[in-house]
Amino acid sequence: MTVSLVGAGPGDPELITVKGLARLRACDVLVYDRLVAAELVDEAPDDALRIERDRLEQDEVNEVLVSLGRRGDEVVRLKGGDPLLFGRGGEEALALARAEVPFEIVPGVSSLASVPGSVGIPVTHRGLASAVTAFAAHDVESLDVAALARMPGTLVAYMGGARADRLARRLIEHGLPASTPAAVIVRGTLPDEQVIVSPLGAVAAAPGTPALVVIGDVVGVRALLAVRRSAA
Ligand SMILES: C[S@@+](CC[C@H](N)C(=O)[O-])C[C@H]1O[C@@H](n2cnc3c(N)ncnc32)[C@H](O)[C@@H]1O
Repeated sequence: MTVSLVGAGPGDPELITVKGLARLRACDVLVYDRLVAAELVDEAPDDALRIERDRLEQDEVNEVLVSLGRRGDEVVRLKGGDPLLFGRGGEEALALARAEVPFEIVPGVSSLASVPGSVGIPVTHRGLASAVTAFAAHDVESLDVAALARMPGTLVAYMGGARADRLARRLIEHGLPASTPAAVIVRGTLPDEQVIVSPLGAVAAAPGTPALVVIGDVVGVRALLAVRRSAA
């Protein structure tokens, strides 16, 4: 194998997979996202070349992966969460496939279920939600909010923390009750994680990044799990 697209998990460095960690410990070159845990970057061998992705445009990342892969280096492309869920891993895989560079995809623990789940919010729960809609909310104004407001089950907004208040207002304007439970989770699974639970009508912009916004009756389960959390 030459290039491994590896999911680093949602933040807590212990949430990488066993396979992902093995690839990381054996790489010659590590190309990593700014958001991945520093502890994971440290897991690469001391003499591995480390390249921070955020200094590069996406096309440049694709080119770097292709040229290192062609050289036969063991390359790990370490991405937050899962590489293929709002991670542009698909674009990188396509560039490698087109260049006929051998690659593999090592899935990661996405923030989709792990961030809400780790704070006691199951994104599905029998009797409350049997569907989940994950969507990118970096451009709240261009979202099809009418369709989102009609979706059954739980809504999970990625990249929308800074405008969570505007997202909430638009969903309410399109028919979602202002009383719908909501949670804004900032830096989930990390030591400085923050969880702000409120009705949709009172949602404010997230106080930091990265943040997920979870909307739906499943948010209410968190309060019922409070005993478990305080015992932990
Ligand atoms: C570019 S997307 C990458 C998602 C990633 N591929 C995944 O599977 O989780 C970045 C967004 O994921 C969400 N996110 C990632 N990690 C998070 C965390 N620890 N806590 C809260 N939200 C997180 C935020 O919405 C953030 O803006």
